[in-house]
Amino acid sequence: MAYFKKKQAALLLGGLFVGLVMANPVEDMDDNARSEISDRIKPVGSLCVTGEECAAGGGATVASGPRSGEKIYSTYCTICHATGLLNAPKKGDKQTWDQRLAATGSFAALLHNALNGIRAMPPKGTCADCSSDEISDSIEYMSGLSP
Ligand code: HEC
Repeated sequence: MAYFKKKQAALLLGGLFVGLVMANPVEDMDDNARSEISDRIKPVGSLCVTGEECAAGGGATVASGPRSGEKIYSTYCTICHATGLLNAPKKGDKQTWDQRLAATGSFAALLHNALNGIRAMPPKGTCADCSSDEISDSIEYMSGLSP
């Protein structure tokens, strides 16, 4: 009996949780609205693996394009570069970025240091799967400098 009660409580809690996550409006939607939403949240593209047949309708061969500098910055760099944590040059602090540019000699040198890491700055700012173009765009975004 005690077991049964526990199970009921778990079901109730689970139900509450799902209720919170799904935030009921879904129930009030008609089928059109629902399919519109599933269209909107479906993956941007599907990946075809060499040697395998692609999804019906010919799925795209690339999962997604490069992420914007803003997106990379706000996901990976902001924790240090928004506040100047560990003396990181702050976003939009033109004077500091100009000094860094002068000290290293070029945007390419700043990019090189960002890719490889320098002192407390981790390689690729912890975005291990970032391409160098994405890192370059995020530096451009936070420094206002151009490559
Ligand atoms: C853990 C904190 C941290 C994160 C996360 C981080 N940085 Fe940094 N970054 C630093 C610090 C600290 C410095 C200053 C290093 C120094 O010169 O001593 C720095 C310096 C830099 C510089 C200047 C390098 C130079 O040669 O002057 C660039 C460019 C840079 N970061 C880009 C990025 C990018 C792009 C990201 C996100 C993809 C990022 N950082 C994420 C801490 C961080």
